[in-house]
Amino acid sequence: MLILGIETSCDETGLALYDSALPGRTGLLAHALHSQIAMHNEYGGVVPELASRDHIRYLVPLLTQVLKEANKDRTAIEAIAYTQGPGLAGALLTGAAFAHALAMALHCPVLGIHHLEGHLLSPLLSADDRPDFPFIALLVSGGHTQLMQVDGVGRYTLLGETLDDAAGECFDKAAKLLGLPYPGGPAISALALHGQAGHYALPRPMLRSGNLDFSFAGLKTAVLTQVKKMAQPLEDSQRANLARDFVDAVVDVLVFKSMSALRQTGIRNLVVAGGVGANLQLRAALSAATQQQGCKTYYPELELCTDNGAMIAFAAALRLEMPEYAPLKVDYGFSVRPRWPLSAL
Ligand code: KG4
Ligand code: ZN
Repeated sequence: MLILGIETSCDETGLALYDSALPGRTGLLAHALHSQIAMHNEYGGVVPELASRDHIRYLVPLLTQVLKEANKDRTAIEAIAYTQGPGLAGALLTGAAFAHALAMALHCPVLGIHHLEGHLLSPLLSADDRPDFPFIALLVSGGHTQLMQVDGVGRYTLLGETLDDAAGECFDKAAKLLGLPYPGGPAISALALHGQAGHYALPRPMLRSGNLDFSFAGLKTAVLTQVKKMAQPLEDSQRANLARDFVDAVVDVLVFKSMSALRQTGIRNLVVAGGVGANLQLRAALSAATQQQGCKTYYPELELCTDNGAMIAFAAALRLEMPEYAPLKVDYGFSVRPRWPLSAL
């Protein structure tokens, strides 16, 4: 089945064509992304109204692009999947409206996908050796930090989550304090590669909490306190050292909690998904830690870590294999779910 995937939950417009009759990665015939980062950079964060308007601008050109790349006519599309939530309400509405209008015109079914389900199943798209269920998923994005037990498609149990800021949000805020551009995650991680560890004692929040929850607000405040103590402007080496200690602190917490989740459940496979999953320091530390415990870590390929349409089309393909989706209902009424806990699926 040829599935069009549409992602518009935040600041990337992503479209993809996935053919579920082909195995794994080969099914991804085309995917295209327009990032709004440059536009939002001026404001230091995502401006929701600008995000919605930009999605509207790019949906049609990106559809044309993926159809051309896959060498398909739009009438070949057999199902349309879009991000129904969670995310920015206006941004979600642009994708939902586009998906339903197109589905109506093509007389094909349309399917709302949970954004985080897209992220957490995305490592299955890339892996040559797909991890078997059950696995533990560490979901680390700009809006979420969660550890989930995944027993199958749609069978998710929340093991722990952040009580305040998400890991990505913490990366972005700390980067801003160091004068780095939005989104700060990639920038602060790149800067950290030039820094030396051990100059600034930053906390590892909730490391000994005895549960699998996280908290990152205190770490951001610790960076702020540290910056305020230092003579301004900071020297390049100071910024790099602080970035290094910051990244080390976040990575330590994420690795410790992920390993605890594996130990507590006896599960041997860890899947890392969401934008922060692109972080190279986190990838290296998790791979080393899981290997040491005889476990294995799976990641989506780097370009599919952050938001994209491929993960939405792929999640839809897996959902469509489930008996309750056959025959697929055709219903063109729609709503979006800006707040939608994954555990409610
Ligand atoms: O999953 P995502 O693209 O969007 C959401 O659903 O939130 O994640 C975006 C987040 C941002 O906070 C960004 O700074 C962070 O992922 N991020 C990174 C890296 N690449 C993206 N954080 C750390 N290191 C990276 N390399
Ligand atoms: Zn995301």
